[in-house]
Amino acid sequence: MKNVLVLGSGGREHALCWKLLQSDQCDELFALPGNAGTSQLVQNVDIALSDFRQIGDFCEKNKISLVIVGPEQPLVDGIVNYFQENHPDIHVFGPDKEASKLEGSKDYAKEFMMEFGIPTAAYRSFNTDQLEESMNFLDESNGPYVLKADGLAAGKGVLIIEDREEAKVSMREMLSGKFGEASSTVVVEEFLDGIEFSVFVVTDGEEYLILPEAKDYKRIGEGNTGLNTGGMGAVSPVPFVSKKLMRKVEDQVIKPTIEGIKKRKLNYKGFIFFGLIMVGDEPKVIEYNCRMGDPETEVVIPRIESDLLDLISSCFSGDLSSKEVLITEQSATTVMLVSGGYPEAYEKGKKISLPTESKGSIIFHSGTKMEASDLLTNGGRVLALTSFANNFKDAVQQSMKLAEQIEFEGKNYRRDIGFDL
Ligand code: AMP
Ligand code: GLY
Repeated sequence: MKNVLVLGSGGREHALCWKLLQSDQCDELFALPGNAGTSQLVQNVDIALSDFRQIGDFCEKNKISLVIVGPEQPLVDGIVNYFQENHPDIHVFGPDKEASKLEGSKDYAKEFMMEFGIPTAAYRSFNTDQLEESMNFLDESNGPYVLKADGLAAGKGVLIIEDREEAKVSMREMLSGKFGEASSTVVVEEFLDGIEFSVFVVTDGEEYLILPEAKDYKRIGEGNTGLNTGGMGAVSPVPFVSKKLMRKVEDQVIKPTIEGIKKRKLNYKGFIFFGLIMVGDEPKVIEYNCRMGDPETEVVIPRIESDLLDLISSCFSGDLSSKEVLITEQSATTVMLVSGGYPEAYEKGKKISLPTESKGSIIFHSGTKMEASDLLTNGGRVLALTSFANNFKDAVQQSMKLAEQIEFEGKNYRRDIGFDL
């Protein structure tokens, strides 16, 4: 039995809490800072995610032995290193600062993939001293041009541009600080044409277990149009991901990544999120994330029948290889209800009304808060409506019905999740 702390405040963290509570190894569970959804299940802790010292003190006081990190920022900022130095007896599930560069630096990730022979788009990196070279490079290559800010840029750091002159303008802007420090190095990549999906593993840095795969829908508009968002919905399993494709992913991507982590002696106990694209029949890596996805977690985690806390704990006790991940055959889909205006400016504090029943579905909260006895919107992405059925189409229909029954001013959602499958 252990006391566990989950860091983060989105649908991902609500889904993690929901699952961890089902474990008979879980004593007390806390969410920091959590949201209105987690507060119905566990105790929310009002401390900033960036305040490692206070988080550490809270853990000591509440006899927390395991911290599970939801978002990437605290990992990239070194929360694992902080705990190792100051609270060595508390396990933190997530990679340390160096290992988090797999997500926190696109240049690092590309270089890692090249070293270990992991299939990915060809690339060149340019820093602020190499403006001239970058212009020559663009002059010699053909579009579409894929420009990526090296560092974390809240999902906005990737530009895909058809026209060469426009690409050169953007390159100039990025290298002169459009995304601050994050774009002081810019990665230019070969454009890959294919369909995207995501694969997730739990790893202790030596062994790994594969979780269910998922596909998310990033654009705000139906038919995959309009601006990028954090994710408007997700589906798991992904119908086109055959056993054969999964074997390729495991042999060509997962195994060499874990080998690379071992060879570089990276301290990586955590989730790895492989953002993949299928080009022809071949999987290639678009990106690594050092955490689970949101909203992917809201379909991946509910499909896992095994005890998640037991799997995570095994990463610290060295017996991960003796475990297995049992997965339901059922399809799960999630549909995000978002605030009007999102992903651009939107208002918060709108009163949400939920139906009294949502059979066959789970409402995971994302940007919500309780004020007095009112449930209010508190972010761009508000609620993730996860449903299960024998196929993804029926599951989407079920989420759609629920979406209609939930009300708040400005409510928006995509009605076409799974349309391209
Ligand atoms: P990233 O932040 O690296 O995942 O990129 C964001 C999105 O840009 C991806 O989900 C893809 O849709 C797209 N993208 C990134 N790299 C490429 C590429 N090399 N070719 C085509 N599309 C890409
Ligand atoms: N849904 C994409 C992500 O979590 O990065």
